[in-house]
Amino acid sequence: MRILVSGKGGSGKTTIAALLSIIFSRNGYRVLALDTDSVPNLAQSLGVPPEVIDKIVPLAKNEELVAERTGVRPGEGWGLLFSLTPQVSDIADKYGIKIDDNLSLVVVGSIDVSKEGCLCPAIALAKAFLLHTFLKRREIIIVDSEAGAEVFGRGLAEKFDINLCIAEPTLKSLSIAKKLIDLANQLGIKHNIVVLNKVQDPLHAVQLFNRVFGNSVPYHVVRYDENIVALENRGRGLTSLSIDSIAYRDTHSLFLKLTKLV
Ligand SMILES: Nc1ncnc2c1ncn2[C@@H]1O[C@H](COP(=O)(O)OP(=O)(O)O)[C@@H](O)[C@H]1O
Ligand SMILES: [Mg+2]
Repeated sequence: MRILVSGKGGSGKTTIAALLSIIFSRNGYRVLALDTDSVPNLAQSLGVPPEVIDKIVPLAKNEELVAERTGVRPGEGWGLLFSLTPQVSDIADKYGIKIDDNLSLVVVGSIDVSKEGCLCPAIALAKAFLLHTFLKRREIIIVDSEAGAEVFGRGLAEKFDINLCIAEPTLKSLSIAKKLIDLANQLGIKHNIVVLNKVQDPLHAVQLFNRVFGNSVPYHVVRYDENIVALENRGRGLTSLSIDSIAYRDTHSLFLKLTKLV
């Protein structure tokens, strides 16, 4: 199962991606969590220690690797031929950070050309990795994406079985989610779910949701949980979030829905 986590900046993509990764892995799935944000922070949310985080080089920024796999150094892509389908099968094993027995993280880096300048070979490598990483049995890939629609571009989106579009219960956030879902639908992503996150008044949130979406798309509510903020302020990852806390329980029921989908 390949799950894309999309949505507006600050809506809670990284939080939900991290919680789902933790929950899937604790339930016997092998999880590969991928961070494609240009300012990656999924590692923090997964409780990776700061001294390890400091040493992480995103795949797309790893000049040696990019050069080795594409034949061209980052920044040298224009006008040169480079391999568009670099070999990526060993990358998860070599560059993954092991969070626990069932959970690894690969910091891929941004796939957005407009954010990365013209690092074409680097983006080619990052995209090839997203496209061609092979799934074994009971294996899940969860991609924490960058805000915006780049991830829906050029052949990537349709690789995902499920698109979780995270939205805060505001008209603005939901309107952006609607656009992303429309795009995902056009691209033929099979399952789109809107995750209403940081919800304090579920009834009101669902009313707003219905105003924007009608009943065209399924939704799931994850309530506002002050424990998340408290952990973050203490520099702790969501691996330390109590399984009794609100957001954990709400994400756990999302996990159950997802296992029934595919
Ligand atoms: N359910 C929730 N309850 C409380 N705070 C949340 C919840 N989900 C996310 N947050 C907080 O909102 C902020 C943005 O979340 P984050 O996951 O980083 O968003 P994104 O990755 O979409 O930019 C973070 O400070 C996070 O702790
Ligand atoms: Mg994020």
